[in-house]
Amino acid sequence: MCGIIGYVGSGRASQIITDGLKRLEYRGYDSVGIAVRTGPGRLEVRKDKGMVEEISTALRFTSIDGNLGLGHTRWATHGAVCKENAHPHADCSGNIILAHNGVIENYSKLRDDLASKGHKFASQTDSEVIAHLIEENAKTQPLVKAFIRSIKQLEGSYAIVAMGASDTEERLFMARRNSPLVIGAGKGEMLCASDIPAMLKYTRTFIPLQEGDIAVLSRHGYKIYADDGSEATRKQITVDWDVEMAQKGGYPHFMLKEITDQKHFINESLASDVSGAWKLIDAHERVDIIAAGTSYHAGIMLSYLLQNSGKVAQAFIASDYPFIAKPDKKTLLLAISQSGETADVLQALRFGRGCKKIAITNVVGSTITTLADCVVFLNAGPEVGVAATKTFTAQLAVIYKMFYGKDKLKELSGLIETMLAHDGEIKAIAQKIAGKENAFFIARGRNVPIAYEGSLKFKEVTYIHSEAYPGGELKHGTLSLITEGVPVVALAPKDETLPKLFGNIREAKARGAFILSITDDDEVKKESDISISLPPGMDPILYPFALIVPLQLLAYHTSVLRGINPDRPRNLAKSVTVE
Ligand code: G6P
Repeated sequence: MCGIIGYVGSGRASQIITDGLKRLEYRGYDSVGIAVRTGPGRLEVRKDKGMVEEISTALRFTSIDGNLGLGHTRWATHGAVCKENAHPHADCSGNIILAHNGVIENYSKLRDDLASKGHKFASQTDSEVIAHLIEENAKTQPLVKAFIRSIKQLEGSYAIVAMGASDTEERLFMARRNSPLVIGAGKGEMLCASDIPAMLKYTRTFIPLQEGDIAVLSRHGYKIYADDGSEATRKQITVDWDVEMAQKGGYPHFMLKEITDQKHFINESLASDVSGAWKLIDAHERVDIIAAGTSYHAGIMLSYLLQNSGKVAQAFIASDYPFIAKPDKKTLLLAISQSGETADVLQALRFGRGCKKIAITNVVGSTITTLADCVVFLNAGPEVGVAATKTFTAQLAVIYKMFYGKDKLKELSGLIETMLAHDGEIKAIAQKIAGKENAFFIARGRNVPIAYEGSLKFKEVTYIHSEAYPGGELKHGTLSLITEGVPVVALAPKDETLPKLFGNIREAKARGAFILSITDDDEVKKESDISISLPPGMDPILYPFALIVPLQLLAYHTSVLRGINPDRPRNLAKSVTVE
């Protein structure tokens, strides 16, 4: 959700920034812009609403000369989607230019104050106010001081990258609070961006900023100032992701690549160290699990496994947690977040002040890692498709490792490969359901979180209305929607849930539903209109892993058949950094 990239060095800033903007696309956006310092006192700004490819070509982004610049992909919060509201934004004189992610809560007051001092605004955004604020403060002090002073006057969340046309040197000014921003340190060049993959082509060395940090970058290095204005040192990290991992590698979409990648990454996820997390869980009376979207479904699975082992545990939708829960010192907070940047999750973690915290995340250096006492990494490599796929399976893998140990899970990679081999069959099934308006997913017990996730995947990339239920709930309302030809996807492995789920399949069938089952049971296959087979004799604890893969493929193929780009479904963002 919104993306920033900045560059200072000896390279062609416009090229590097345009390339970075393409890599930030997956976060979700509606407008795009670039600013490059073309010489002392001169800045060139080009921006408009639309997609990176289209706008950067039409406005010839890469034709701008210069070694210092910044770019932005905007996701509208304050003000309509239009050219004026697209970033970068400038002050009155066009000297200060900046891009901002987040929401400035006191912007209206700041805007009124600045307007009374004669500032004229060109957009309706909260972000533009920051440029004018810096301009105002720079009237009486040097730019670094003016920038620091301005940041102190802001309330709300922000990742800001700014520069000055008439600055004495080529520098980028950065600040972050509750919105991600990372420095990338290259040789004779420095970058900054909202996430690591946007900079991978240029460096593997990164310095994630902490909350409240301010930084100044020049081509020779960087200086970081902590919240209290003192100079600070921050941990440098090296990542072993390479550019290839964040590219499509011959697949038509990231989503398909990432579904297929699961067979490899699962072993990396299983190598993750879960011992510290387990010790903390063991030492607490109660575990509150906090997550959003797909990660919430992994959280439900974790809550089931914990409850089954005798713990008091509950999975909460992160955005609702502060309204519902009363965590105390006996409560362990366990947050699951692929990106480690979801604002709802971070807020819920902060709400549990005084509690010990575990984070399960995929992103090294993400904000969540700074809030937790113990971090479990997914090691799933960068996930670019908006719909989480491989990271969900990775979340399940690290969760299952806590309960069953790695040995019990060593067949996982092979199992995923076996399920991926159903791809052709699933594509044919997608053809049968691509024209439907509704779909229902049913399961029982531990298979329910998989039904939730299968349904979420399906609706988010196909735009077909879809719901998931524990099979027993169908008769309490939803059955009224099951009519002739409505697809009902039944997760029906031969485990203890099957006898009862079979009853639910028959109920739906009797109302004319089109039954698609994923099963290893011959009776269920007979009752179904179409089935995807689970491998005979497989270990029942691995059923959730075998079930999720065909559901991901079903969502993917149905999406493509409906002419949708599954990597970028409408209205959705990969990383949701506002509450
Ligand atoms: C967004 C994404 C979802 C994701 C959710 C939580 O809505 O589109 O795919 O599941 O955020 O993200 P997280 O990074 O916290 O797991």
